[in-house]
Amino acid sequence: MSFTNTIIPRSVEWKETYIRLLDQQKLPAVTEYIKLQTISDVWEAIKALKVRGAPAIGITAAFGLALAAKQYETENLEEFHRLLVRDHDYLASSRPTAVNLFWALGRLVKSVQSAVSVNEAKTSLLHEAIQIQVEDEATCRRIGEHALPLFKNGDSVMTICNAGSIATARYGTALAPFYLAKEKNINLSVYACETRPVLQGARLTTWELLQADVDVTLITDNMAAHTIFSKGISAIIVGADRIAANGDTANKIGTYNLALLAGAFQIPFYVAAPLSTFDTETKSGTEIPIEERDPKEITHFGGQQIAPDHVKVFNPAFDVTPHHLITGIITEKGVLSGDYSSEIQKVFKGEV
Ligand code: MRU
Repeated sequence: MSFTNTIIPRSVEWKETYIRLLDQQKLPAVTEYIKLQTISDVWEAIKALKVRGAPAIGITAAFGLALAAKQYETENLEEFHRLLVRDHDYLASSRPTAVNLFWALGRLVKSVQSAVSVNEAKTSLLHEAIQIQVEDEATCRRIGEHALPLFKNGDSVMTICNAGSIATARYGTALAPFYLAKEKNINLSVYACETRPVLQGARLTTWELLQADVDVTLITDNMAAHTIFSKGISAIIVGADRIAANGDTANKIGTYNLALLAGAFQIPFYVAAPLSTFDTETKSGTEIPIEERDPKEITHFGGQQIAPDHVKVFNPAFDVTPHHLITGIITEKGVLSGDYSSEIQKVFKGEV
């Protein structure tokens, strides 16, 4: 079975009067879809991780803004723009770290700048949201094509979190090479870190890869060093939520640990991300806002309390890997490496 004939469900689908969302919080036990009918449904779904993964968050927010605008009753273009900015700001407040959210919402607002009527503006918003989703699928496939030659038949590769098909329009970023390898009969094995505290690796990455018949083994996060050593892991590949102008990369908490381990074991550490995840306005990782989430994600497990009442908790959802620990950043334009500041500048100037 290959990815081409595997139907991994789409995380987000536009359905004219609502957004159909795969509820990623219920996976893998239940494959359930929810209807997002209002902008607050969309905000809640992003906040509660029913949809997660930087590109998928951006796509959902884009459809959310198009949906909200569709419901405006005004015929006045000035009033329309005022409501749009209000709703843009509301959706932008759902999660702080993944820059794709702000990038997608910004693209939508820009798409209506020259509209001459409210109707035209509503149509443009929807077209732009659809375009973002269509582009993301092609982008992820290209990321997979650029990533695949970095591995060889028989390699075992480690990943964390879920940077897969359901975190994007399709294919994923860090998981794209494994799907492409399957299509080309190249054998790659994946070691998936479970990704405490909310287990995107255990629940989502293994669920996705199993459907495409990719060889995947689940480990807990604290088994990473032992597994690299004992199973001969040849590389680590992760996704990204925001990449600063100097290449510093925010991704799921635990990524920085893996980058340090890769350095210690002298194996390559790759980040796979579309250009929509780069934030060239942010100079370095220290400027990236890191989301802190509900302490209950740590003090409770499957609804059961596992830590004493009132214990102090620190629950950052992301960490920042300094660029010097990254062997290469795999984008739809190719693999960046070396002097990230100038490489990133070149890509954004269209010189790559
Ligand atoms: O909190 P999440 O699940 O949204 O975090 C997701 C990640 O950290 C992913 O690795 C990243 O968004 C890349 S998804 C292609």
